[in-house]
Amino acid sequence: KHILVLNGPNLNMLGIREPGVYGEVSLPQIEKHLSELASSQNVELTCIQSNHEGVLIDTIHAAYGKMDGILINPGAFTHYSYALRDAISSVKLPTVEVHLSNIHQRESFRHVSVIAPVADGQIAGFGAHSYELGFTALMNILKKAR
Ligand code: DQA
Repeated sequence: KHILVLNGPNLNMLGIREPGVYGEVSLPQIEKHLSELASSQNVELTCIQSNHEGVLIDTIHAAYGKMDGILINPGAFTHYSYALRDAISSVKLPTVEVHLSNIHQRESFRHVSVIAPVADGQIAGFGAHSYELGFTALMNILKKAR
């Protein structure tokens, strides 16, 4: 299996950015931890972060027919990117949406995810651990699909 781990805008600033909200773990640390978890399950990971909507969309399109699933933290694009949403529904890959913070507990503009309706599920509010939970959920979907 080959999983695409996508991180959207400002997630390259994890560790520096609002640590009270997002924690002190950096994105490279999260990716390293996920990669170890994945390799222990014989799963290949490709981790990509971009601050650009189009790069995220191109990366999702490139995953079509090549990858088996997507683990995505779309950052603020979660709340308004119909283009990202359409990209996810275009490729029809199992997709799990993750957030470090509990978006439902924060400003009202963060309560809506335009990605959630095209994702298999959403995990939010567990800090860096959200990624691990999301990865486990995605693996579970792939096992069932076999
Ligand atoms: C986030 C939540 C979003 O509202 C925010 O714009 C982010 C990070 C999270 O992981 O908690 O950039 O996706």
